[in-house]
Amino acid sequence: MKLGIIGAGNIGKSLGAWAAKVGYQVGFAARNISHAEQAAQLAGHHAKADSVIEIVKQFDLLLLAIPYSEVSKVIAEIKPFLKDKIVIDVTNPLTADYMGLALGYTTSAAEEIAKLMPEIPVVKAFNTVFAQIYAAQNPQLNGQTISVFMASDQPTAKAKVMELVSRLGFDAVDAGALKNARYLEPLAGLNIFLGYGQGLGTQIGFTLLR
Ligand SMILES: NC(=O)c1ccc[n+]([C@@H]2O[C@H](COP(=O)([O-])OP(=O)(O)OC[C@H]3O[C@@H](n4cnc5c(N)ncnc54)[C@H](OP(=O)(O)O)[C@@H]3O)[C@@H](O)[C@H]2O)c1
Repeated sequence: MKLGIIGAGNIGKSLGAWAAKVGYQVGFAARNISHAEQAAQLAGHHAKADSVIEIVKQFDLLLLAIPYSEVSKVIAEIKPFLKDKIVIDVTNPLTADYMGLALGYTTSAAEEIAKLMPEIPVVKAFNTVFAQIYAAQNPQLNGQTISVFMASDQPTAKAKVMELVSRLGFDAVDAGALKNARYLEPLAGLNIFLGYGQGLGTQIGFTLLR
């Protein structure tokens, strides 16, 4: 299994390192290649660093771990190379102060991303969990397993992402169609408010009890 990661910041490097540890062949890209190289070094397990285009060409499962404000530019760059790829969208369309969402209710970052590349399966996932949880490589808090929600219109793509989520040990929750990213992005907003606005810190997470 191969996972290409565009964005080697908090999310990219932490999820990438963990994916490498559980057996994924991982490749990183960033604006600054040295950041991708640092992420690859941190991940070990023969993780590689390359340009955005090369990572897109070489990996079929692609995690888009960049600020939402950069999305249209990056998609324009990679679009010619996306045939047969699956894109995992972890972005949250935050306002500049991180305390609100720049869009919602009638659309979502995930849907806007899908509109930019209509032929490509998009899976919203991982966006409701802090990068610090991924960095700690522990899907549990106080003995309870954190839920990772997935929304997509393509069942095959969603199953591939579900496999990654499950391998990391999270509680994988199928949240239905891509438009349900309209629920997942505000849930991430609540997570950020609780963590930073309310002072609970980043070792928090949502669990769906059944
Ligand atoms: N941090 C969290 O806890 C968290 C949780 C859930 C979801 N998210 C979402 O995940 C996304 C990434 O967040 P983050 O905290 O990882 O951000 P970050 O630490 O700022 O990292 C962003 C990464 O994106 C890369 N990047 C930016 N523009 C690019 C471009 N045009 N081409 C290629 N790479 C580009 C940056 O490259 P350089 O390193 O070269 O600058 C950097 O590696 C955001 O949409 C955020 O809302 C974050």
